[in-house]
Amino acid sequence: MATLSLGKQESYTRLKLDLESLYSLKMKTALVTGGSGYLGSHVCKLLKANHWKVIVFDKREPKHEFADMYVQDDIRNHFAVFDTLDRFRPDVVFHFAGRIEIDASFKEASEFYGVNAGGTYNVLDSMRHLGLNNIIYSSTAGIYEPKNQPIIECDSKNWDNNPYAGSKLAAEHGIQHSGIHHVIFRYFNLAGADVENDIGESHEPETHLIPKIYQNLNNFKIYGSDYNTSAILNQLILLVRSFNVESIAR
Ligand SMILES: NC(=O)c1ccc[n+]([C@@H]2O[C@H](COP(=O)([O-])OP(=O)(O)OC[C@H]3O[C@@H](n4cnc5c(N)ncnc54)[C@H](O)[C@@H]3O)[C@@H](O)[C@H]2O)c1
Repeated sequence: MATLSLGKQESYTRLKLDLESLYSLKMKTALVTGGSGYLGSHVCKLLKANHWKVIVFDKREPKHEFADMYVQDDIRNHFAVFDTLDRFRPDVVFHFAGRIEIDASFKEASEFYGVNAGGTYNVLDSMRHLGLNNIIYSSTAGIYEPKNQPIIECDSKNWDNNPYAGSKLAAEHGIQHSGIHHVIFRYFNLAGADVENDIGESHEPETHLIPKIYQNLNNFKIYGSDYNTSAILNQLILLVRSFNVESIAR
């Protein structure tokens, strides 16, 4: 058996290279659509911390540094979606890109269906053609029929709550019928920052209650007097400190 004699620095470099190549064999790739957004940024950070290769697909450039590659394009662009999936062949697609402002969804319903449902169908169609088989989708609890008790998973859904909810439910149906392995999360009102305070809560435009309260602390108006809203808001702000988006991202 030949023995290779290596100097200290040389053997260190070689060991490092071996570990790196072993590591890259095991390294998984994630495509995070909407990876420049609020939830997407947190997920990118966690994926990087767990040694994934992270590709962001978003129409907006990320402000964070947790992506290895960034593709700037529209999720409705079938060619761009197909090309990105073909180039990077991700092990998992985390699909978060979408329009989220409920008010705007009443005025721009077809745009919401185009981005949220149509964009999702683009992703699914391309994944199917390329044999990519794992998608995680960020849906919303807003698809459930409103009620006064806590929601449970099998509660009835109503596409007609608002066009945003309708478009998310349409996306869900596409995923459920696609034959692709999937996990669909339904939640609402993500809040807070990560524990290291790298990424806070921020949307463009900002439509969410808690950041709006912080941005406009002294001028925040509460309309109506039939609920003890001030007390509830104070509780909410306290809650944000203990509950945060990071747990959802995990
Ligand atoms: N924030 C919440 O409370 C909440 C609750 C339930 C579900 N969700 C869902 O989670 C996902 C992420 O929400 P978020 O709070 O991070 O929103 P966000 O607005 O911060 O992020 C959405 C991202 O999608 C990108 N995007 C929008 N339209 C696009 C398009 N046509 N092509 C490519 N990129 C596009 C935006 O640039 C943005 O970076 C959304 O799908 C939303 O419906 C969010």
